[in-house]
Amino acid sequence: MKISLASDHASFELKEHLRKYLENKKDVEVIDLGTYNKESTDYPDYAKKLGEHVSSKESDIGIAMCGTGLGMSIAVNKVKGIRGALCLYPTMAEYARKHNNANVLVMAGRLTGPDLAEWTVDKFLETEFEGGRHKRRVDKISSMEDNL
Ligand code: RB5
Repeated sequence: MKISLASDHASFELKEHLRKYLENKKDVEVIDLGTYNKESTDYPDYAKKLGEHVSSKESDIGIAMCGTGLGMSIAVNKVKGIRGALCLYPTMAEYARKHNNANVLVMAGRLTGPDLAEWTVDKFLETEFEGGRHKRRVDKISSMEDNL
């Protein structure tokens, strides 16, 4: 599985932590789209880069991070085909996959510590979309993009 990561400066440390964590997993290829240091950056630039990477299927899923996760979640969902979900703990990640078929996990570097972040990522990776009635709803979200 290919997983792309992107963060702004406020979540640089969380991104670095998760990059190392994911690189140790079998069958995972990590693509680090930046930022690469703690210098101030603008999260929409990284949201765009990561969203387009996932949308064009260069990665299977993305993990987007900023301080609160709010800016990244607003911005990444502007990219066609992206279903980004801000998840602060594992149960949110579980339902983001099961019910919403999220393809981008959005995380908050200033709110979620490293252990909780690992558990949240693991839950996201191990949970499948349930389909059924949830597919009908997710398809309705996709159809909203046709009119943009
Ligand atoms: C950067 O200071 C901060 O605004 C950003 O990381 C994020 O929290 C925005 O939503």
